[in-house]
Amino acid sequence: MRLIFLGPPGAGKGTQAELFTKEHRLAHISTGDILRDAVKRGTPLGLKAKQYMDSGALVPDDVVVAIVAQKLAGIDGGFVLDGFPRTLAQAEALDKILDESNGNLDAAVYLDVNEDTVVRRLSGRRICRKCGANYHVENMPPHREGVCDKCGGELYQREDDRPEVVRERLEVYRRETAPLIDYYRTRDLLRTVVADPPPEEVMKELGKVLA
Ligand code: AP5
Repeated sequence: MRLIFLGPPGAGKGTQAELFTKEHRLAHISTGDILRDAVKRGTPLGLKAKQYMDSGALVPDDVVVAIVAQKLAGIDGGFVLDGFPRTLAQAEALDKILDESNGNLDAAVYLDVNEDTVVRRLSGRRICRKCGANYHVENMPPHREGVCDKCGGELYQREDDRPEVVRERLEVYRRETAPLIDYYRTRDLLRTVVADPPPEEVMKELGKVLA
């Protein structure tokens, strides 16, 4: 299966992609995670990306497309792209990459979520500094406050989850990414899942629309 997960910040793309790829043994490619890892390691890519990410802007298309092309070249089986594409230029670049490898997308899953839900989710999100695991202070709390269940690492709030940056990310989403819903609808690839319910329910719906 070759899938993309689309939706606004906080729709649950990362959460669902992690559950889905584990269950179906697919590769999980998250451009956000790759960029955050580069920032953490202080690589040239990270230094370049940080200025965009901290303000809620998109990293330039050529940078992100090159990352995804390289990742896909190293993958044999199916995958979920989480957070890519995010602009029409990226969607067209992905089509070209897949054409050149004689591949094609099976579906673009749109996680449709209410804006109030997004704001609540992002303000409560916590991430493990060590392994990147994702929590929410109310919806998916760790067993011990501030400590990762998986590796014992410290949990922190993402810089771009501050309210003023969330507003900017939502604006960028509406302007740059929302047009992709039509892009995939016209290609008959769009599958919509209402993403407000708890993760297990969303996961069940996801299974249904992809069956
Ligand atoms: P990225 O990391 O991709 O951020 P995003 O798209 O804004 O998505 P989020 O990670 O905020 O949300 P999500 O939908 O994955 O939700 P999650 O599962 O985490 O990108 C960050 C930045 O990198 C961008 O702003 C940009 O600068 C750059 N970038 C990345 N890709 C790029 C690209 N292609 N082009 C250019 N720039 C790019 O869930 C959120 C919270 O809600 C968590 O706490 C989770 O536990 C909780 N939660 C999830 N699902 C549920 C549920 N069903 N019920 C209750 N709580 C839930």
